[in-house]
Amino acid sequence: MKKLQLNLQHSTSRVWIGHQLPDCLKQLQLPGRPLRAFLLVDGVLKQTAKAWWEKLEELGWSVEIRFVRASESLKSLRSLEPLYSWLIRKGADRHSVIFAIGGGTVGDAVGFLAGTYLRGLRWVSVPTTLLAQVDSGLGGKTAVNHHLGKNLIGIFHQPVAVFCDLDFLKTLSERELISGLGEIAKYGIALDRTLFRYLEKRSRKGVLELFAHPRAMEYLVWSCLKLKKAAVEKDELDQKGSRALLNFGHTLGHLFEAETGYGYFRHGEAVVWGMRGAVFLSMLRGRLQEEEGREIDQFLSRLTVPKLPGKNAFSARWRRLKLDKKSKDGVPRFVLLEKVGRAVSDQTVSQDEVRKTLNWLDRQKGGRG
Ligand SMILES: NC(=O)c1ccc[n+]([C@@H]2O[C@H](COP(=O)([O-])OP(=O)(O)OC[C@H]3O[C@@H](n4cnc5c(N)ncnc54)[C@H](O)[C@@H]3O)[C@@H](O)[C@H]2O)c1
Ligand SMILES: [Zn+2]
Repeated sequence: MKKLQLNLQHSTSRVWIGHQLPDCLKQLQLPGRPLRAFLLVDGVLKQTAKAWWEKLEELGWSVEIRFVRASESLKSLRSLEPLYSWLIRKGADRHSVIFAIGGGTVGDAVGFLAGTYLRGLRWVSVPTTLLAQVDSGLGGKTAVNHHLGKNLIGIFHQPVAVFCDLDFLKTLSERELISGLGEIAKYGIALDRTLFRYLEKRSRKGVLELFAHPRAMEYLVWSCLKLKKAAVEKDELDQKGSRALLNFGHTLGHLFEAETGYGYFRHGEAVVWGMRGAVFLSMLRGRLQEEEGREIDQFLSRLTVPKLPGKNAFSARWRRLKLDKKSKDGVPRFVLLEKVGRAVSDQTVSQDEVRKTLNWLDRQKGGRG
């Protein structure tokens, strides 16, 4: 088991990574007694997450549970309305603690619920997908969607604790694992050469080989969260740039998710295409050496993700890019590479360079679909 602690100006988040983590609940030791827990749990985890409420009860907490259906539509003000009513009716107060047990959609929605109900209750994040364990579970970004765009309504609200229980990963589909691996690759390629080499070396016979080693998952989740911790500690509110580097592959990734209506790609799959685009763009702009770029692309193309669907008009794509949250003054911002492990933010990419990149991507084959 590994532990980390995210230390911020006004809060700390303690992080546990390993197996059988309900046993670590006793280490939480939050002030206030008796403790009341309000658990919002992805319905698919009714059986596998049982140990969490059983353990809390054993430790003397009073527990209320509500199951939710994990999906992007959970991340909406409309879906939160009955959850606020539930908290009010059950008498949740400022001494209560909210638990989000599920993937990124549950974490984003429940974190937002916890941060807005009574102007903010403490919450505990129990991410259960690989993507959520390496990324969304830590860092305090919570949000719901608006029909005009994703994650547009949100707040920063740090969880008091994050439990990345690797036992949850056993029931994930291959597709969910690859989506998580997309985010893991992002950390390696953008920020950590050693992590990238590890991924590269151990996936030559197929990327799922990466999960075969018993310690691999712990190492991968821990490596990513260490990088995330460093970025968030420098730039909690995403204003100074170091958190922005975590968006490597996301400018185009978000475009692909948006233009396919969010149902076609898993988030990490779209990021895989986005990273291939960012690598191409980095070579095109002469920032990244061709040999290194090709090596990264070879690794990324081993992650089997659905094809990019059809060709879309460039003008519409460019318009979408300009509307992205990461754009400034209508100019899209990209994270480019100088070498593996060294990413830089760039806001001078031209329309023509983006056109060439999208044309190149449209000519590449996806693995699946
Ligand atoms: N807050 C952040 O910093 C941040 C960062 C990255 C992504 N996100 C958000 O995360 C969301 C995507 O997260 P996600 O991919 O985890 O999606 P998700 O929560 O929809 O989970 C994906 C699927 O896996 C199922 N599932 C969850 N845990 C499981 C388990 N242990 N075994 C089997 N099935 C399980 C879910 O029911 C769902 O069908 C997006 O909304 C994205 O915007 C947020
Ligand atoms: Zn992401």
